[in-house]
Amino acid sequence: MTKKQKLELIWEGKYDEHGKRVAPLRVALPFQTVETINEATQDRQKHLLLEPTVAYGQEWRNRLIWGDKKYVLPSLLPEFAGKVDLVYIDPPFATDADFSFTATIPDAPGSESVEQLEFVKEPNLIEQKAYRDTWGRGLDSYLQWMYETLAHLRELLAETGSIYVHLDVHRGPYVKVLMDEIFGVDNFQNEIAWYYYNKLHDSRKRLLPKAFDQILYYVKDKRASYVYNAMKEPRDKSVTKLKYKKVAGKIQNVIGADGKAVTYESTERTIDNVWRIRCLQPANKQEWVNYETQKPVDLIERILSFSSNKGDLVLDCFCGSGSSLVASELQGRRWIGCDLGRFAVHTTRKRLLSIPGLRPFIVQNLGKYERQLWQTEQFKAKGEDPEAKTAQQRDYTAFILELYRATPLNGYTWLHGAKSGRMVHVGAVDAPVSVGDVANIAAEFRKAIGTGKDAPASNGVDVLGWDFAFEMNEVALQQAARANIQMRFLRIPRDAMDKRAVEQGDIHFFELAALSVDAKVKKHDVSLRLMDFVIPPDDVPEEARRAVKHWSQWIDYWAVDWDNKGDTFHNEWQTYRTRKDQTLELETTHAYEEMGEYNVVVKVIDILGNDTTKTVRVKVK
Ligand SMILES: C[S@@+](CC[C@H](N)C(=O)[O-])C[C@H]1O[C@@H](n2cnc3c(N)ncnc32)[C@H](O)[C@@H]1O
Repeated sequence: MTKKQKLELIWEGKYDEHGKRVAPLRVALPFQTVETINEATQDRQKHLLLEPTVAYGQEWRNRLIWGDKKYVLPSLLPEFAGKVDLVYIDPPFATDADFSFTATIPDAPGSESVEQLEFVKEPNLIEQKAYRDTWGRGLDSYLQWMYETLAHLRELLAETGSIYVHLDVHRGPYVKVLMDEIFGVDNFQNEIAWYYYNKLHDSRKRLLPKAFDQILYYVKDKRASYVYNAMKEPRDKSVTKLKYKKVAGKIQNVIGADGKAVTYESTERTIDNVWRIRCLQPANKQEWVNYETQKPVDLIERILSFSSNKGDLVLDCFCGSGSSLVASELQGRRWIGCDLGRFAVHTTRKRLLSIPGLRPFIVQNLGKYERQLWQTEQFKAKGEDPEAKTAQQRDYTAFILELYRATPLNGYTWLHGAKSGRMVHVGAVDAPVSVGDVANIAAEFRKAIGTGKDAPASNGVDVLGWDFAFEMNEVALQQAARANIQMRFLRIPRDAMDKRAVEQGDIHFFELAALSVDAKVKKHDVSLRLMDFVIPPDDVPEEARRAVKHWSQWIDYWAVDWDNKGDTFHNEWQTYRTRKDQTLELETTHAYEEMGEYNVVVKVIDILGNDTTKTVRVKVK
């Protein structure tokens, strides 16, 4: 008997050279909580008493994660395998809209103008890499990428869970076959056509206009008691229908006393698989947040109503502007959202904040762990002994120096290189550059003056770091200035982890943004006022730079933690620009209940989604 051949879709990269299926990356990295939002003070106190690794885990917290799904999904597995009730994903389309976004420069304070200048922020190199991972080899790489995503999502789904994948006519048919393979043909429930009847079409194109997206709907196991709540929608016009009854298993018309078939007026219809829901247009100031691929909240709310109940857990690993998280929040579902784009995470945070009664949530990333993974993979230690580890560290430092186009130096501990007469320090992969590091750099710099050929040619030091401790720009700069050192802090871009970007030699190190805040204390009240903000010239076109007349135009949002204990940033007050109201307050006041000294942390997010923090110490008498 010949072996039965199973139907399957084959793409380049599906099997390795030995004919073995190429499995998705399975590495679970720990999440780092970088911000809490709407956290009650009592819960915060409770958390401070817990182990730092117990990340608000005792009670549920919704989670917004900044990171690549490639690392985020496997990292969710230890905690969430078999626990997610509903997945909705709207994966990237193969267009520029996948990663570029439109940033808006608001009007200068006091200006009469109502027309804000917009510019397109092109994708950064990490985003370009994600694009290449997905589309670099066309449909082949897309299918492998999609296979890895769906395989992880299946594992995360509860036995009674459902998944909805938002696609279009180009990719839909391929992903249908892929999903049949991963989820099983029997678990296919339906294909939904989202008919966006109001989309404007370009009549010059020799193309039949596209008016619907495809949403594939599967359950994890049809035999399990998966959630299915049938729904009705109002009819445009009521219709007269015949009344039926079942007699001995057969349908019959109901006949009235007059001998005629009984009718009734039907004003509702059962929702089927064609969904007529308008798409969002920029004119919709209520909902449109200027995120190119934003989907309507009511479209996703419908999915949630069909396939989940209150309290169920919803996951979206391509959350974009956060539509699915907004829908989950509005419907009382728990949620986890993830996106690779900084701007996406910022847009989502702002949208969520505008929901009345928003439940607390946390913002997380994989921070140093993602970098550690990169360091171990990139600079393999040739053994476990300390010498091998030192050699690995040396290779890493040399690599970053080369990217910065600096020359390596020998014989120093804290000064690793030199560039244009300035000394260069390379920060570690797994810890932020701290004030203590700066003291060590300064001490070594002073000793180095005037000694040998590698002695500093100026009093300048460039400190390169992946992360910087909160108070860096302020305390450390003053400390360095006192030692007569002119120090600059530059961020090592995430792009350094991208091999192709490195080969292209297109890596930019930008100075940290600088924020100036004034604090005034009056009895128990502390007033903060933003005084100045300078952003690095990161990808901002010259024309946009020229349009900025006042530093506050760079700021989109700012938030305050009034009593930071050196832990996560707790967002206790915030203000931001919206599409409807582009103005931004630059001052806020807080009344403390108890006297004492407090560390106040101010977090500013600029119009490109980058954040800058500043710590101010206040004494309340
Ligand atoms: C089509 S959009 C989603 C739009 C979203 N449904 C909404 O309503 O705003 C796709 C999103 O996937 C994100 N993305 C692309 N590749 C990713 C990856 N590897 N990991 C995480 N997010 C990714 C993009 O940044 C983009 O925001």
